[in-house]
Amino acid sequence: MTTLLKIAVVHGPNLNLLGTREPSTYGRATLADIDRELVALGRQENTEVACAQANGEGELVALIQSLGATHDGLVLNPAAYTHTSVAIRDAVLAVGKPAVEVHLSNVHAREPFRHHSFLADIVVGRVMGFGAHSYRLGLLGLLAHLRGIGA
Ligand code: DQA
Repeated sequence: MTTLLKIAVVHGPNLNLLGTREPSTYGRATLADIDRELVALGRQENTEVACAQANGEGELVALIQSLGATHDGLVLNPAAYTHTSVAIRDAVLAVGKPAVEVHLSNVHAREPFRHHSFLADIVVGRVMGFGAHSYRLGLLGLLAHLRGIGA
């Protein structure tokens, strides 16, 4: 039996609108659908998954601080703040827990302003372009990292 792990999934601004927000870019799955699937995948993987979303940068920093303190790792989609936020980068560094960056869309196939990520060099890995599946792949990658699989 593997050790029980606790992972926090943190979603950034406008991701509460998934399902109706630009579906050709972000798909039809709602945030509740994604969270439900991550909790179910976690259960299969002997992992407790807690999910949270916030629209504000400060709220996201607070979530990363509090959930980072009580969880073994973070799956983060900071949405637009990926491309702008030193504060979110600093929060991830401050909690010192392994983090994976995920995006529904392939940000490198989009506008140039989405090509830069303030997290890219401090996360364990990045998954993008697979829609809601990016989150599942990110969670599995983080668990493999924490369990030393493939290290
Ligand atoms: C996103 C990509 C970001 O550029 C954008 O601002 C988002 C969503 C994604 O999941 O594809 O809000 O993080």
